[in-house]
Amino acid sequence: MGQNSWLEILVQCKNKIRKQIGPLLETLDQPQPDLGIGAGGDPIRKIDLAAENAIVGTLRGQGFSFTLISEESGVREYGENPRECYITVDPIDGTTNLMRRVPFYATSMAVSEKPFLKDVHSALVADLFHGITYTAQKGKGSFRDNRTISPSSNALLEEAVIGVDLNSYKVERIVPRLTGLIKKTKHIRHFGANALELCYVADGTTDAFIDIRGKLRTTDVAAACLIVKEAGALLTTPDGKPLDAGLDPKQKVEFIAAANAEMHKTILGLVKSGKEKA
Ligand code: IPD
Ligand code: CA
Repeated sequence: MGQNSWLEILVQCKNKIRKQIGPLLETLDQPQPDLGIGAGGDPIRKIDLAAENAIVGTLRGQGFSFTLISEESGVREYGENPRECYITVDPIDGTTNLMRRVPFYATSMAVSEKPFLKDVHSALVADLFHGITYTAQKGKGSFRDNRTISPSSNALLEEAVIGVDLNSYKVERIVPRLTGLIKKTKHIRHFGANALELCYVADGTTDAFIDIRGKLRTTDVAAACLIVKEAGALLTTPDGKPLDAGLDPKQKVEFIAAANAEMHKTILGLVKSGKEKA
């Protein structure tokens, strides 16, 4: 199965998701059933499962064998040769936004031959509210609605729009590492769906996105990481090392994504690594 064809399949999955969740978006004000806790540790919503079922249904309907690595149902094998292909998904990234009608939530799907971030070869993140689709293939660049994207060339922190995720109960440990950066930045943002926020770095909407909480799962960002890198932006650990990790709903990552080398260097110099004293 060629990488080109994978993008077509991922687009079909995304279209099915939009169709399946449509009616559920009309019922968000009704009491929601208790569906337990997902593999990633958050409560499962009906809409998360509907999105996941749309992905599995589309792939199984075409006879694919694959291992699904999902934030909702965990790791599940389908078909006769499930280890030949890994599909890592966050069916809905930004579920809280969706439930509260904040128009910023996405679906995220990544395809790889091995269950590691660095092995993802095809990726799709779709802004489900605005109907915008980001895609990437290893070695072939990144696209928004089929048009090539590239990150911002702005190197000035003073003018930059920087995304920072501070959602954490351990904020007293995280904030001191970021104070130097926040002091020098005029425009800090957090929109609430990290896959999509990474795509904003990829297409130049923002200049950087930082998540050093140690809380984000690889399932959330498997697709967006390829989109960021293929667009030409930089993505590393907070220590400046290449970012890689196993694809698993329990595997956490910390990262700094920046539009260009200068911006990345500046941010890296201002963010304290977890090993230093605050
Ligand atoms: C969440 C979003 C949010 C981030 C959380 C994630 P989810 O994803 O990406 O921005 O702060 O850590 O869990 O749970 O809606 O898929
Ligand atoms: Ca999710």
